[in-house]
Amino acid sequence: MTFMEAATFSSRRGAITLKRILLICSLLLLAPSFVAAQADLTGFWVLRVPTGDGNYRETFFELKQVGETVTGKVLLGSRELPISDGTFKDGNLHFVVTFRGQSQERQVTYDGTMEGGRISLTVHFPGREPLKGTVERSKPEAALPPPRLPLPELHDVPDNGLARTPPMGWNSWNKFAGKIDDAAVRGMADTMVSSGLSKVGYTYINIDDTWEGPRDDQGNITSNRKFPDMKALADYVHSKGLKIGIYSSPGPKTCAGYEGSYGHEEQDAQTFASWGIDYLKYDWCSAGRIYKDEDMQAVYQKMGDALLKTGRPIVYSLCQYGRAEVWKWGPKVGGNLWRTTGDISDNWKSMESIGFRQFDIASYTRPGHWNDPDMLEIGNGGMTNDEYRTHMSLWALLAAPLLAGNDLRAMSEETKDILMNTEVIAIDQDPDAKPAKVISQDGKTTVLVRPLTENSMAVGLFNRGDQPAEVSVNWGALNLTGKKLQVRDLWSHGTVQVAGDRYSASVPTHGVVLLKVTAQR
Ligand code: GLA
Repeated sequence: MTFMEAATFSSRRGAITLKRILLICSLLLLAPSFVAAQADLTGFWVLRVPTGDGNYRETFFELKQVGETVTGKVLLGSRELPISDGTFKDGNLHFVVTFRGQSQERQVTYDGTMEGGRISLTVHFPGREPLKGTVERSKPEAALPPPRLPLPELHDVPDNGLARTPPMGWNSWNKFAGKIDDAAVRGMADTMVSSGLSKVGYTYINIDDTWEGPRDDQGNITSNRKFPDMKALADYVHSKGLKIGIYSSPGPKTCAGYEGSYGHEEQDAQTFASWGIDYLKYDWCSAGRIYKDEDMQAVYQKMGDALLKTGRPIVYSLCQYGRAEVWKWGPKVGGNLWRTTGDISDNWKSMESIGFRQFDIASYTRPGHWNDPDMLEIGNGGMTNDEYRTHMSLWALLAAPLLAGNDLRAMSEETKDILMNTEVIAIDQDPDAKPAKVISQDGKTTVLVRPLTENSMAVGLFNRGDQPAEVSVNWGALNLTGKKLQVRDLWSHGTVQVAGDRYSASVPTHGVVLLKVTAQR
């Protein structure tokens, strides 16, 4: 550098320095409004809401702010959902997330204000009380899934010999979701016996999600304060002559955001066995953020092996919403039943769209290994009794597990009659476990037939339409022409007189006529 160059440089530096000082002064003058307007939301955030049982429900947000526009996603349990309509203006944050269920779509709105680096957030769910919480900055490691664990080589897990007929019992989720506790479970066990449900075959009292607490220093799963002593609860259920089920996930979090079995599969199986658990529902949930659908068989096999290793007979229920054609490999991982669909809700549209979509895979069920179109909604109030009779009849024809999902302690007589119809239960539990077939489909009417043991058949005449309809079955289609038939109506509990080649019945809207037909020898 020459002297002249150096002089010019130093004077330019002087000019630059002067400009900088002026800029900093003006920034300082404008500071308050400037800082508020420019607070950048870009990054990871966490919303922590106490669940009331000692846990926190964590929702992570990965946000990106450009000007006043906010984009990004919500990381909620197993799901990653894009946000839309995101804005951050004058310290006010707003965005919308669309949750898509089996049969409905819900738009959840998030509104918050920024105060001292935190966001006070209100979450508006349609038809529910708004949820308030504080959102704080978080780290990507906290929001992102943990590493994929090495998966075992595939092999066939030996059959555990359980569930020779579709499991029957009760599960807490449909009615109680997160509001289930020890006292309610004991109450269900009491009522299972006193109402007569246990006499007609209902056996399992299954606790679904939200029983979990944190892990102890040795990594053992604990129950949360809604379930002070799981072993004592299991003992109580057993003392009634019933069996008890529990729930977990191969992911780090369950679908409700509670502790899952990720990395503790064998340890949890041992814990469940030591408590006296007889049934495990194992729900994919956050495993979906770690593993791919192709990994499911190995992931489920791991728990299948772990359960067998405990030496305790434990029914193994796979819940991964019917992905990856689970009916083809469910038995190989030791599965006694596997969900074939997303979640059911207590309304006709949901039940109809699940129930009438099961026929193509009906032949995959066999003793010990069942398709599970999800738990019953009978008695929960969202459907008419005709619709609930359709629900029960369809599930029975499908040889589906019959897991009541209502509050057993408050059943109406009609709910009892539906759940405890022994003639319909007998169809479900038929020892031959033969699949049902559609023999005719005409607009909104469907005739479904299931061969039963000892020369009988169950025939369901369904009307999915909004008007009563005449539904017919041709005996020819069942190879019964000319045979002397004994026909029983399983809902009116009477004998039906039949003559000729066909039988027609008037079926109410969304209703069913369910027959048992026996060809006399
Ligand atoms: C999933 C399952 C449901 C229930 C909930 C619990 O949605 O499909 O049956 O177990 O998780 O969080």
